[in-house]
Amino acid sequence: METQQQNGFWFGKRVLVTGGDGFVASHLINYLSTQGALPVMTVRHRRPMFTLELIKDKNSSEKAMMPDIEQCDLLDYEALRRVCDRHQIDTIFHLAASAIVSDAANSPVSTIENNVMGTLNILEIARINKIPRVLIASTDKSYGDHLDDSLEPLPYREGYALRGMDVYSASKVCADMLTQTYSYQFKVPAIVVRSSNIFGPGDLNFTRLIPRTIMCLLAGKAPLINQGNEKVLREYIYIDDVVRAYTFLMEKVSEIYGADNCHMPHHGSATYGWTAFNVGNYTAAETADPQSCDSIKNVSEIIELLRKKITDIPPVVKAKAANFIEIPDQYLDCSKIINLGFRPHTSFADGLQRSIDWYRENYSYLEKRATRYVHA
Ligand SMILES: NC(=O)c1ccc[n+]([C@@H]2O[C@H](COP(=O)([O-])OP(=O)(O)OC[C@H]3O[C@@H](n4cnc5c(N)ncnc54)[C@H](O)[C@@H]3O)[C@@H](O)[C@H]2O)c1
Repeated sequence: METQQQNGFWFGKRVLVTGGDGFVASHLINYLSTQGALPVMTVRHRRPMFTLELIKDKNSSEKAMMPDIEQCDLLDYEALRRVCDRHQIDTIFHLAASAIVSDAANSPVSTIENNVMGTLNILEIARINKIPRVLIASTDKSYGDHLDDSLEPLPYREGYALRGMDVYSASKVCADMLTQTYSYQFKVPAIVVRSSNIFGPGDLNFTRLIPRTIMCLLAGKAPLINQGNEKVLREYIYIDDVVRAYTFLMEKVSEIYGADNCHMPHHGSATYGWTAFNVGNYTAAETADPQSCDSIKNVSEIIELLRKKITDIPPVVKAKAANFIEIPDQYLDCSKIINLGFRPHTSFADGLQRSIDWYRENYSYLEKRATRYVHA
């Protein structure tokens, strides 16, 4: 992956990455390893092949750099604390979550328990161990439905109300608010990231639009559209840019908080979402019309692009599950992170092509895993 500052910041850092075998975590660990960090990944269970091995550049002669791997359920506070103590962790990227919206709707209690208590355990350890930098993954879904909100219209900004009202979003809202609380009340130097939809090689979550559609088309099957969702707008960001954004923010934590937290506001609206950063491509100041932003697309547009690049099979429209809530249009204003000096590098088209290439290359391994999501 394209590297960032190469400033030596990560050399020797002892970094805990939760959900280590997940999509985002694997790319992050890969990058941190190349920067000389000592990543430790926690996994709840392991797959026959780690995602980290799957995303390895097959043309590279270098051996895949594997981090230390700790089998640890984040709901087990004592075990998690022992992992942090044993490895003398100085940085935490908390990415583990029940991260699939439709699965969450089918298992509300375990999703809320996992996403809320897992985050609370991380924050508590960060507080007690005085961890100097912590990143907690929230999501753009936490903002929920702002479609006809005249006071807080789209694009979402960090100070907006969090209104996620499906189980996944609600669990993330709670985790997000807890992080803001630990930051505000206990001065835990935490950053909340609210990313738009992340895509790229290594995403094995085949309920998501891009992986599912690519796998359907590679299998010669019709892609699926949920009824009524054809025109819903979503913002996308390529995985390498997400890794760059997250590491960028962690490099800047002490600057963001200031000496003795002097930059932290004490009251009023300046406190709303102060800890949070939107992570995406769009800013209203640069592009007035969101639809002309390369990275904001509706479902039909994405499917059409993929049909052109893989196989031209028309989609089938399927009725949504009764309990499935689709948030209307969603896109973020990312001026806060952009004004801090961060810029995404990968265009939507390039990212999409790299993703197709990867799913094609790994098709024989992925086929079985994806089969129940590929329309028969
Ligand atoms: N991928 C996206 O589009 C996107 C967008 C916005 C936010 N996010 C958030 O980013 C984070 C990473 O997402 P992802 O796409 O990599 O998800 P993923 O499903 O690929 O990875 C999540 C990992 O967390 C692990 N996990 C879950 N509960 C655990 C527990 N109790 N103990 C230990 N491990 C546990 C899972 O086994 C999985 O490997 C999540 O918090 C997600 O909510 C993702």
